[in-house]
Amino acid sequence: MEYRAAEHKIRQILREQPPSTALQKIVDLLYEEFEKYSWVGIYLVNGSALELGPWKGTQTTEHTRIPLGQGVCGAAASSGKTELVDDVTKDARYLSCFLSTRSEIVVPIKRSQVVLGEIDIDSDRPAAFDANDKMFLEKVADMLSTHI
Ligand code: SME
Repeated sequence: MEYRAAEHKIRQILREQPPSTALQKIVDLLYEEFEKYSWVGIYLVNGSALELGPWKGTQTTEHTRIPLGQGVCGAAASSGKTELVDDVTKDARYLSCFLSTRSEIVVPIKRSQVVLGEIDIDSDRPAAFDANDKMFLEKVADMLSTHI
């Protein structure tokens, strides 16, 4: 699916669905429409940790609670900046969830500069994420910020 079409669908989901179901539907859409997105999850900040919310993929992760200072997820939540890891084997911060993962993108969801959560996507392909994914997912995070 084209990024623009996905953006349109996500806006529609946010308009039509209550927050309780919207996040899961958006996670499902990202997973199903973008083949290179091998695992998609939303983590929500709770105190000093990230807690796993809606997710979709073929495997469950043991990292359902990540302290803010740990992992690529914790780094993105602490800095408020998108983290793009082309090769997870070369990033010392990386917390491994799936043996098949090669690259990862983590995009913070912020409201008035406060990080509320993040979109975490793993890919089984090396360097799967580029500037277009970053731009698209940052827009999605922005849309989500008023719904979580
Ligand atoms: N790899 C992440 C942990 C979450 S899993 O990818 C689902 C990290 O390094 O923070």
